[in-house]
Amino acid sequence: MKSLIVIPTYNEKRNIERLLTEIERLTLPNLDILVVDDNSPDKTADLVRSRQRNSSRLFLLVRSAKQGLGSAYRAGFNWGLERDYDVLIEMDADLSHGPCYLPLILEKIKNFDFVVGSRYVPQGGIEDWGRLRRGLSYLGSSYARLILGTKIKDLTGGFNAWRKEIFEKVNLNQIGSNGYSFQIELKYRATKNKFTYCEVPIIFKDRQNGQSKINFKIISEAFWKVPAWRLTDLVFKFKKFIKFCLVGGLGAIIDIGLLAFLVEFFAINVQLANVFSFIVAVINNFVGNKYWTFRDQNPRQYYQFSKFFLVSLIGLLLNVFLLKLFINWGVWYLSAKLFITALVVLWNFLANRYWTFKKYPDNA
Ligand code: GDD
Ligand code: MN
Repeated sequence: MKSLIVIPTYNEKRNIERLLTEIERLTLPNLDILVVDDNSPDKTADLVRSRQRNSSRLFLLVRSAKQGLGSAYRAGFNWGLERDYDVLIEMDADLSHGPCYLPLILEKIKNFDFVVGSRYVPQGGIEDWGRLRRGLSYLGSSYARLILGTKIKDLTGGFNAWRKEIFEKVNLNQIGSNGYSFQIELKYRATKNKFTYCEVPIIFKDRQNGQSKINFKIISEAFWKVPAWRLTDLVFKFKKFIKFCLVGGLGAIIDIGLLAFLVEFFAINVQLANVFSFIVAVINNFVGNKYWTFRDQNPRQYYQFSKFFLVSLIGLLLNVFLLKLFINWGVWYLSAKLFITALVVLWNFLANRYWTFKKYPDNA
């Protein structure tokens, strides 16, 4: 198993040498290091270049300008994937992430798809961060965890290991985060694709030299992107249901409109007009759902309309029957109607999705 530690740097000349020395001292087999430097004004890259003379395991990728942590990791990971590394490890350059945790992380990655170095599990923690930064980080982690609905405790942390298989499912170039939200996004996408993980406790130490690059822009990117990912995924997940409701909504307008039209202008018997408008609405719903909502679900099938009609009819009967029942129980007719409509829409959706327009195996 070949592993690569990717270390993004921006003005880390006072940290990078010590970090590299500490990692090398561990003499871990099959482990290479790639520093991704954004042309640091303090010439971090020159230090790395001079060390490369004594090490065949150290690589350097220099980019022309500061483009963000997420973007640096994207470039570094792509570099590693092109060179067939099995495991990619993220690590900060400022000694906040102790190399002493590497052996355990490398051990764990044999049994999990990714490993999270975690400050927020028992035995994990943060040293020397002020109350403000500590609170901010914890708040950020909880905010993301709540909205994204994942169980990972340290979503924002940047000391993680990833097996290359993850990137066959999660397209790196579609990870949109440029800043620190990269950390959250990758973990979220990986768990959504059902990859397994474990959290290893780490004690995060504040940097002794240089400055953190976190700023308002980085925080706000994470702040609005987190709900945006979740919303997009939810809309995608419920896409068919949303389309079904839109078709049904149009159907309801046609149903009521036609009924009123026939009764008011042609003085047709209400019961008769009701049956007629119901049938027209069902036809509208059938066409809309067959050719739009469920168009990917087996287009050639007989009796589809009869099935659809039957489902709608049961829905109608449910409607009539339940309304009577609720009114008898003393429920106000409009609240009853609201509840029943929701129930019937759900019934119609499920019955049509899994029966009327049921997907058959391709050559059945
Ligand atoms: N190449 C490159 N380009 N590197 C960058 C950039 C950039 O634009 N911005 C930051 N870095 C590098 C830094 O040089 C450092 O090695 C690492 O990324 C982390 O940056 P810091 O500025 O030290 O981050 P931090 O200490 O404030 O944040 C830590 O906590 C965050 C929240 O938990 C890190 O662990 C982050 O990874 C983590 O998201
Ligand atoms: Mn740091």
